[in-house]
Amino acid sequence: MQKRQIMDKIYWLGAVDWDRRLFDSLIPLPDGTTYNAYLIEGSEKTALLDTVDPPMADEWMAQLAGVSNMDYIVSHHAEQDHSGTIPRVLKQFPQAKVVASEKAKGLLMDLLNIPEDAFVTVKDGETLSLGDKTLQFIHTPWVHWPETMVTYLKEDRILFSCDFFGSHIASTDLFVIDQGRVYESAKRYFAEIMMPFRTVIQKNLEKLKEVDIRMIAPSHGQIHDQPSWIMEAYQEWVTGAPKNLAVIPYVSMHGSTQQMVDYLTSALVEKGVRVELFSLPVTDIGKLAMSLVDAATLVVGTSTVLAGPHPMAAYATFLANALRPRVKFLSIIGSYGWGGKTVETLAGMIPNLKVEVLEPVLCKGLASQKDFEALDQLAGAIAQKHKENGFA
Ligand code: FEO
Repeated sequence: MQKRQIMDKIYWLGAVDWDRRLFDSLIPLPDGTTYNAYLIEGSEKTALLDTVDPPMADEWMAQLAGVSNMDYIVSHHAEQDHSGTIPRVLKQFPQAKVVASEKAKGLLMDLLNIPEDAFVTVKDGETLSLGDKTLQFIHTPWVHWPETMVTYLKEDRILFSCDFFGSHIASTDLFVIDQGRVYESAKRYFAEIMMPFRTVIQKNLEKLKEVDIRMIAPSHGQIHDQPSWIMEAYQEWVTGAPKNLAVIPYVSMHGSTQQMVDYLTSALVEKGVRVELFSLPVTDIGKLAMSLVDAATLVVGTSTVLAGPHPMAAYATFLANALRPRVKFLSIIGSYGWGGKTVETLAGMIPNLKVEVLEPVLCKGLASQKDFEALDQLAGAIAQKHKENGFA
């Protein structure tokens, strides 16, 4: 694809990765993704904002044909899907300076072997003139690494936000045309990499409220030419209350745990609690992460394997602990054949979750009447807790 003009002297340079299905060897990308870089030609200087993932570099470098001079390469974020092609750009434009935060400089030197004398570091709020265009750098740590920053192009009121406000959607659309589709993808992205840093992201959002933004140009997905809705969505994900929602990731080997999960689901729905189920052997882990953005309660359902939780249940629990969702209540249900330490093992895996643990329900073999009664009690406790806390 050729470079595409956004406004006068401002261009999208990027790569559409239609086929990518996994990021960081972990995160599902059902819709592929894009890597967006931007070229800004000022009356005196030219700046490139970010690059693309190295596997796309050959195709992408062709978009720089016709660019005779490059003064600055702004690196918002050292992760290689944006920074990985900086060394090749530097080879083509050896006089260019890499503009980055002090923290990013260290990371870029370590990750990409960029020499120290190639850098110009910028402080929070610092500006850089390209002549008739002015870049202002706003440090926005932990979206989602410690070194991250964004660039505000003052004259055109464009915020170049890198991962912040991004979405993983491969498309030839330059701008957002389907807000519903982008909302879902952006929420998935927030859940997978930014949710653990809600407190600091809230501070970053407050900072950006003072900036007059006409357009947000992220480094994944489409450009927001109506930026208010995505900023409001982030605000809700970061500061909103959990919803009246119980999320149940589970794994069942021979049907006993499945029966308990189905029974609990039915009991919760009867009591007015929404439920989302994720059968772990077939689930999209990104969908589970997205549900955890909203959930007030997490119930892990597991069979017993070698005296402990099924490894898939342990994986989901480990992931929930790492993502630090705003869940308030947690329980465990499941079945065993002859014994085990399932509850103790899973309970020991959630030190990051500030949750009240509700009485687990573990049964031997198929659930008995007593076990169904315990599940009814658990459903009642969840419904009551949601009500008491005003979760709607
Ligand atoms: Fe898109 Fe954190 O890299």
